[in-house]
Amino acid sequence: MRNKNELARQKEQELFDSSHSQEERNERGQFATPYSLALAIAKDLFSRIRKDASVLEPSCGTGAFISALLSISDQFRITGVEKDPRLYKTAQELWSSDACQIINNDFFDYASMESRQFDAIISNPPYSRHHHLSLSEKHFYSQLTTNFSGVCLSGLAGLHAYFLLTGTGMLKEDGVGSWLIPSELFSVNYGSPIRKFLTQTVSLERIHFFDPENLQFDDALVTSCVAIIRKKKPSSNSSAVFTYGDFQSPRKTVTIPLQNLSNLSKWQHLEDYTGQAKTNSQVLGDYFKAKRGIATGSNSFFIRPRNEWHEEGISDEWLAPILPSPRTFHLSEVTSDESGWPQESNSALLNIPKSSSYSELPSPVRKYLDRCPEKIRNGYILRHRTPWYSIGRADSAPIICTYMSRSEKTPFRFIRNRSNATMTNTYLGLYPQTSMSDIELDNMCETLNSIPADVLIKGGREYGGGLKKLEPRELMSLPVSL
Ligand SMILES: C[S@@+](CC[C@H](N)C(=O)[O-])C[C@H]1O[C@@H](n2cnc3c(N)ncnc32)[C@H](O)[C@@H]1O
Repeated sequence: MRNKNELARQKEQELFDSSHSQEERNERGQFATPYSLALAIAKDLFSRIRKDASVLEPSCGTGAFISALLSISDQFRITGVEKDPRLYKTAQELWSSDACQIINNDFFDYASMESRQFDAIISNPPYSRHHHLSLSEKHFYSQLTTNFSGVCLSGLAGLHAYFLLTGTGMLKEDGVGSWLIPSELFSVNYGSPIRKFLTQTVSLERIHFFDPENLQFDDALVTSCVAIIRKKKPSSNSSAVFTYGDFQSPRKTVTIPLQNLSNLSKWQHLEDYTGQAKTNSQVLGDYFKAKRGIATGSNSFFIRPRNEWHEEGISDEWLAPILPSPRTFHLSEVTSDESGWPQESNSALLNIPKSSSYSELPSPVRKYLDRCPEKIRNGYILRHRTPWYSIGRADSAPIICTYMSRSEKTPFRFIRNRSNATMTNTYLGLYPQTSMSDIELDNMCETLNSIPADVLIKGGREYGGGLKKLEPRELMSLPVSL
């Protein structure tokens, strides 16, 4: 009977998925857990709780976890909450019984009214990013989260972070929560208060990282992990188990004391953790400051080949050399002509000083600006820049770095720039802290390019589908030995 219901659930889920666009589902965080994974997570939870436990599923969708729980024990008392009326209806029709109650509500409205506490939570919460949340939603979620957990989240936190903290607050003392959440939460800055909460207020028991190339959802571009949390103050010898690869038979298991974990700012890559402090304490930031390149607001409008600008009648006086996008630029070095323009590229940026009023500009420049398409003119950056056409030019950096990639072999490239060309925000620039000779800069660039790929990847963060990124601060924290 239950198997029949599970088949019916999968059919309804497929119908729902095919009638909603990827964009819509992204915004609302509607990606269902594959049944086999839901079952593996439910079995792990079962090993940690009583078989007649009260279990909350705070955003149950069609009920993959509920189906899995019911297949393991018929003594659980389950409460499922779901905001979407269609998903709720499916779950209600399939699973509702004396032992299983399905509620059609927003989880946070439900949490604010429910006084019951639960033995366990099992959840794959919506991963909606912060820019899909309105200010009033953020305000409400954030107040509730602070009431339930004492943690104050930054406005950059996604919906899943509020679910995790509020949900944990709804557990009984010693209750357990199993959370399928994006792994980046354990490396990004806004996750820092959560990492502190999981090591100092409650106890992280296990965290399982799936391999980035092995996405858990066919349709969501997110690398996931499972965090298993016990609502219990940690003792001085509490530790968490980090597992990697397959959830049920991990290829690697590492045990880390919570006290040590609370001092680590990134939890995504601790496979090789030994507890030993690194002996080489020199980092790139001892030598360089890393800064983002400029955000033009529209590269297609403000950056064009230099000769095309000349054909428009716009002279070099109003132009600055700029490097093309890393997607089209694959060289390891940029050399310069006598006037500082790169020899390897002819990209030029429209470079109008802030002090130039429109009426003072030469007529070809004015004519070009007049042709700026409405869509570009109304973009966020241009609307907030005064004057809208003056980008402000970053100094050229002697070493620049590509900081986004999916490659395992060469995740990030360091390029030696001998020209005056500046760069867009598709690069990070490295600016020496003290004066450095050309030879020292050449050596440094070579050293940076010889940093092993895994060190670069571990120094940054990894998103869904294997997308890797290095933020300026992470770049400056890379270990270097000169
Ligand atoms: C990532 S899906 C997971 C569904 C289900 N837990 C599973 O594992 O298959 C998240 C679910 O949360 C629902 N949801 C989004 N915002 C919610 C909210 N504020 N309260 C309750 N449910 C919500 C979505 O409609 C979606 O069904």
